[in-house]
Amino acid sequence: MMIHSQDRRNHDTPTIHDLIQQAADILAHARRLVVLTGAGISKESGIPTFREAQQGLWARHDPQRLATMQGFLADPKLVWDWYQFRLGLVEQAQPNPGHRAIAGLEPLLPHVTVITQNVDGLHARAGSHQVLELHGNIYRFKCLRGHGNLSMADLADQKATPPLCPHPNCQALVRPDVVWFGENLSYSVLNRAVAAAEACDVMLIVGTSGVVQPAASLPYNAWHARARIIEVNPEESDLTDLAHVYLAGPAGEMLPLVLAAMSDQQAGAVAR
Ligand code: OAD
Repeated sequence: MMIHSQDRRNHDTPTIHDLIQQAADILAHARRLVVLTGAGISKESGIPTFREAQQGLWARHDPQRLATMQGFLADPKLVWDWYQFRLGLVEQAQPNPGHRAIAGLEPLLPHVTVITQNVDGLHARAGSHQVLELHGNIYRFKCLRGHGNLSMADLADQKATPPLCPHPNCQALVRPDVVWFGENLSYSVLNRAVAAAEACDVMLIVGTSGVVQPAASLPYNAWHARARIIEVNPEESDLTDLAHVYLAGPAGEMLPLVLAAMSDQQAGAVAR
């Protein structure tokens, strides 16, 4: 397991235990925490990531055909069926100890915002209350004329694939309410995410390669605002150089250890 920390003050390499303690100490003092997550947080729930060699979705599928408006217009059924397949994976998945540890930070800290690039809804299912979904939600649908907030239940009577919009006199094609390549994110969600990143004093980055904009800029907003930055990822990412503490391991193992260290530190402080 690789370890690394900008907080290193001597030439001894800190152990993973030291780094977990450092992360716990930074988090315990956070007044405004932002947790930024990507596909890696859900990997231990059985949901594939995008860019990992061989296993990543984009290693096996062409994002231009499956995750762009052009791809949808060229073959709506292919794209609809692919998202239905992914929806099936998400429905079978359960939040993992990483999601639960993030939800477990809420009662310990004054202010926690989760900003996720994931569309799987697992943070909310784990109990996080303030979640900004930058790339939409795979359980939600909208039509090409802009009728939104449709659920699978709203489309249940439909025989067509993809379904047609159930709004009176509309009948436009229905698509997943997720952000495809070349599309803008929701202004209100992005504005709230940028404001949260600029106002935070600690940012915890989990399981993102940090290559997709504008999400990948949020750690820079936090860094310029002098936030402390912690990263959890088994592999170094494009954001690792920003991290004051880098925990090189899976989120489902690292985050519960950090939470336990915070509880131990708190119990120690009470005992003293
Ligand atoms: P990526 O697939 O690009 O990156 C996943 C990251 O998770 C990698 O850095 C992995 O090393 C890391 N990882 C793997 N297992 C992990 C674990 N157990 N714990 C923690 N980290 C782990 O996924 P994203 O960065 O989320 O957008 O990709 C960003 C966006 O690109 C996605 O939202 C999606 C995709 O195209 C859209 O579909 C619009």
